[in-house]
Amino acid sequence: MAYGKDEFIVDCRKAMKTLDGDKARKSICTSMEKLLKNKTFIAENLGPDKEEGRHTVYRCEETGFNLLFHIFDSANGAPPHDHGTSWAVYGQAVGHTDMTEWVYDELDKNLVVSKEYRLKPGKAGIFPPNAIHSIQYTAGARFVRVTGVDLETVSRRVFDATTHEMRTQNSNGAGFTVER
Ligand SMILES: [Fe+2]
Repeated sequence: MAYGKDEFIVDCRKAMKTLDGDKARKSICTSMEKLLKNKTFIAENLGPDKEEGRHTVYRCEETGFNLLFHIFDSANGAPPHDHGTSWAVYGQAVGHTDMTEWVYDELDKNLVVSKEYRLKPGKAGIFPPNAIHSIQYTAGARFVRVTGVDLETVSRRVFDATTHEMRTQNSNGAGFTVER
């Protein structure tokens, strides 16, 4: 039987229950790349006819991880941000996403690029807790994402790539607190 969404969810739950931090994320990343090989899964869940937006398709009541499908019709991106104490594994299904990883110097309040690469279809990337990245994706891009918890429940940092101003998005979703 093809490796689909249900098999992937089972493996994510197993990784969360039996492995720690980095090892769990690495396992989920490997499973994600296995899932992205399934053309039927992509056609049925991430095809050109699917509704644009960010769709949370599964939330594990037992371990807390979330599975999301991101459907984009137009090219766009997101400024440097982290996922707070949570983490994310991004898997590219269609199109590509240019990833930029950043390091924030708390003392100088300076944001510096540490790594740049293109996430191509079939590939997945790991972003550990507090890791900062920005993304730029193509028109028609689709990606699958697993987060450690529902990101709406954690406080996250968002940066202006030019001014390096840092804002904190409150976990209650009440908006941003400007830190600088
Ligand atoms: Fe992100």
